[in-house]
Amino acid sequence: PTAKAAPVRGVIPYGAAVRTDLLDTEFDYKAAIVDHCQLVVGEGGLKWFDLRPSEDQFVFDQPDRLIDFAHQNGMQMRGHTLAWYGAMPDWTQTIASPAQAERELVHHITTVVGRYQGRIPSWDVVNEAIAEHPERGATIRGSIWQERLGKRYIELALRTAADVDPSAQLVINDYNIENPTQQCRDRRQALLDLLRDLKDRDVPLHAVGIQGHLPGDMEIEKEGLSKFVEAVKEMQLEVLVTELDVIDNKLPAREYDRDQIVAARAGDFLKAISDVARPSAILTWGITDRYTWVPMWFKRDDGKPNRPLPLDAGCRPKALMKVIDEF
Ligand code: G3I
Repeated sequence: PTAKAAPVRGVIPYGAAVRTDLLDTEFDYKAAIVDHCQLVVGEGGLKWFDLRPSEDQFVFDQPDRLIDFAHQNGMQMRGHTLAWYGAMPDWTQTIASPAQAERELVHHITTVVGRYQGRIPSWDVVNEAIAEHPERGATIRGSIWQERLGKRYIELALRTAADVDPSAQLVINDYNIENPTQQCRDRRQALLDLLRDLKDRDVPLHAVGIQGHLPGDMEIEKEGLSKFVEAVKEMQLEVLVTELDVIDNKLPAREYDRDQIVAARAGDFLKAISDVARPSAILTWGITDRYTWVPMWFKRDDGKPNRPLPLDAGCRPKALMKVIDEF
């Protein structure tokens, strides 16, 4: 089939996290993605838990399906993610020594990035590397990689990915950096320290992914976020928004009011970033309220469904979609 051109919306390419398992059964869901997106990323599929049921196995069915779907419809696929503390299969607990950890991480990245070499233009190489501690600032987060290799796992992951696909945009992706809390301030600082250290040592790194799971009941700390982006830009790194949604469990019950607040919050966030540096992409974490991770963690007390995403449960655009279209 001939590839169709993806829709051109605002200046910044827009995309969404996709549940690959639904593409063959949910026609309106699939159509919504094709209609609105220039980019897709698997909500799962490339995580260790999904790819690596056992040490000697790689199961590529989901990402293979998603990249075919993307290319048939004129979209690009992002890769999420190579080194993360989360979604790890149990067998990885048996990784005992630093040498074994290094071998496993390099083997994984070489195999996965190698399979899609030249076809996945942007990778979340390291996901959520920062942990905050209420009393003592933020540090590098614990994970099997951090425990066995120390923070050098980050450099190892980036160097390996760059060797295997020198054309890919390599991204460090993180959350909770946009709010006016001490924890967010600490996280911004710890992330900047990490980035500066990597840049100083010429570790291959191209961009920072700002996830943007925005708490709906909290203002964006515009100045702090803009300063963060300014510092990122000074390091000659790009920014992109990788997982935008608005956590609406504490927002008003009335749908219209809630959708307005959700849209305004996202608008403030996107403006604070793009006033300083134009993001290379904006992706939301899901596209329709019908399928979102938010109720898994942030169910509403009144039992009403969450509305964190640009399209409602019937795949109709909400105020949030209009805001994103402006960028
Ligand atoms: O596939 C199984 C299914 O077989 C089983 O019946 C079902 C019952 O629990 O679980 C299914 O797996 C779930 C999977 O999502 C697919 O829906 C896992 O339990 C669940 O833990 C998993 O959650 C995902 C989570 O990451 C952990 O991987 C969420 O969908 C996904 O939205 C979330 O995404 C993360 C980003 O990767 C990183 N940033 C934060 C973001 C939101 O938490």
